[in-house]
Amino acid sequence: MADAGSFWDKIAEGYDKGSRNKGPNYAARLERAQAVFSPEGRVLDVGCASGEITLDLAAHCGSILGIDLGGRMIEMAKAKVQERGVENAEFMAIDLMDSALPVPEGGYDAVTIYSVFHLVPDVEGFVERVHAVLKPGGHVLCETPCLGDWMWFWGLAIGAAKLLGKAPAIVHRLKADDLEAMLRDAGFEVLDRNIYNPKSGQVCMLARKAG
Ligand SMILES: C[S@@+](CC[C@H](N)C(=O)[O-])C[C@H]1O[C@@H](n2cnc3c(N)ncnc32)[C@H](O)[C@@H]1O
Repeated sequence: MADAGSFWDKIAEGYDKGSRNKGPNYAARLERAQAVFSPEGRVLDVGCASGEITLDLAAHCGSILGIDLGGRMIEMAKAKVQERGVENAEFMAIDLMDSALPVPEGGYDAVTIYSVFHLVPDVEGFVERVHAVLKPGGHVLCETPCLGDWMWFWGLAIGAAKLLGKAPAIVHRLKADDLEAMLRDAGFEVLDRNIYNPKSGQVCMLARKAG
């Protein structure tokens, strides 16, 4: 996983620049999160990069912790906390799978995961870990490019990008049906599955941990 972190650190400045340009569907994305957050809720944003989404989500919950493998990404996110005066957001460079991850007593109220599931070595283990850090009744809200459902030429494009060092070493061609099945197998009830922004092709899923 150290390699994955260094890939994201190498592209941190460019990624941050791109993520500041939020586009027309961004408000609806925040609204979907707001609908499951509560004003006192503790939220974990997994794979937060330089914190753009995390800092916007902070306005709708009690507190939020953004985590990422990329140390440079997290430095940038921390600098924004100061610049923007966001008092309820914190950032940490840590892998979700690391047992040192701080988990509040009883678990997080919600976990958000934007564009990460397709990048992790063990997607099933990752889903199980998300389940473990949530409180019973807590929600996971994720958006994932399910590349396995896209046209075959994307496989070639991603292979070429990897060869050129423009994509991380692991990019799964995940299928939305498989991700949904993994969520169910881990003990989630899947409440919503939709492609809200056809241009991005990201599959949005909302699921609730039983309890
Ligand atoms: C494509 S970026 C998405 C960033 C942000 N969520 C967004 O939507 O703009 C994926 C991020 O996930 C992070 N990541 C990948 N695996 C992770 C893990 N196991 N734990 C924490 N972060 C991880 C990477 O370091 C990278 O910054």
